[in-house]
Amino acid sequence: MKILVTGGTGYIGSHTVCELLDNNYEVVIIDNLVNSKIEVLDSIKTITGKDVKFYQGDVQDKELLNKIFKENKIDGVIHFAGLKAVGESVQKPILYYDNNLNSTLVLLSVMAENNCKNIVFSSSATVYGDPERLPLTEDCKVGGTTNPYGTTKLMIERILKDLYIADNSWSITILRYFNPIGAHESGLIGENPNGIPNNLMPYIIKVATGELPKLNVFGNDYDTEDGTGVRDYIHVVDLAKGHIKAIEKTVKGPGVNIYNLGTGHGYSVLDIVKTFERVNGIEVKYEIAPRRAGDIAACYADPSKALNELGWKAEKEIDEMCKDSYNYVQSVKKGE
Ligand code: NAD
Ligand code: UFG
Repeated sequence: MKILVTGGTGYIGSHTVCELLDNNYEVVIIDNLVNSKIEVLDSIKTITGKDVKFYQGDVQDKELLNKIFKENKIDGVIHFAGLKAVGESVQKPILYYDNNLNSTLVLLSVMAENNCKNIVFSSSATVYGDPERLPLTEDCKVGGTTNPYGTTKLMIERILKDLYIADNSWSITILRYFNPIGAHESGLIGENPNGIPNNLMPYIIKVATGELPKLNVFGNDYDTEDGTGVRDYIHVVDLAKGHIKAIEKTVKGPGVNIYNLGTGHGYSVLDIVKTFERVNGIEVKYEIAPRRAGDIAACYADPSKALNELGWKAEKEIDEMCKDSYNYVQSVKKGE
């Protein structure tokens, strides 16, 4: 079976490509490398011993997408490509709406033209806005997103549902990721953003490596156990494995299905800092800072639907997530 992976050289995409190859899928990637590097392809080959077909280009390029579908008999698509920096999306809303919505619209129309109607889409727990209740189940209210990035996810979910209403031969799986961290155990692929990171784990790493002086802990007066924000961190390899289960279900028959991919456990910012320090034997200096605009107190999944319907469950614990995240950045530094 041949899967087109958009954004396949990115953080979650590259881990998913490895899992697909390990499970004997053939993989075709399209990525414009706006937030990833071509060298990821070599790492994928080293990890899996297998090749992928790579097209460098934009998912908004209809001609290129049509060429990909003509040159390869694609059975299903996993659609990761998109811009994801929350803060940047507030500064550059047109860029985010343009890139994330248009790429999805072009992709869906080319898929329909080529009679490939199986898609897995990367959504986010951000669509739940301020959670109606915890843990979050898939039927919780969505909406109230606080930035254009989150709104693109909400809009794309809606587009996909409308598409199914219009043509119920589509098979659509929407995956709502919680907070992916960690990296492949080889240390060959992972996440190491340039500049000052928005997200907690990349920031902690830059403090640990001495690139940034200290972590600002955004608020210690939330209604949580230690007052700092609580999230459901999930190892990216577990997340990648969830995509294998999702594509298996997607190619079986039509429908729209939504799944939370999280562990079901919430950890606070200070839990993460302490765990990171303990497992890596390194200090992470931090200071309590004001709350960050748009943040919520706590967010964690009820992942039981994915277990019941896909047979998927996150296996890796928080210690391994913290260890693997740091290990990746250390191996990048060794290679520099
Ligand atoms: P990433 O930035 O590492 O990967 C996205 C990839 O898409 C990059 O390689 C980038 O070059 C590519 N890309 C972007 N726009 C493109 C376009 N128009 N055409 C072709 N390629 C394009 O991000 P990631 O963390 O791997 O996230 C993958 C998906 O999961 C994204 O849709 C993201 O919004 C979603 N998601 C991520 C998180 C997270 O915390 N990482 C959480 C929830 C959802
Ligand atoms: N935090 C800090 N200091 C930092 C960065 C983060 O204290 O420098 C705190 C935040 O306040 C929050 C927690 O760490 O309590 C996690 O913050 P992240 O920015 O890592 O993650 P978010 O939950 O805010 O958002 C992330 C992605 C979104 C995605 C969402 C749900 O950035 O795109 O997870 O998947 F939608």
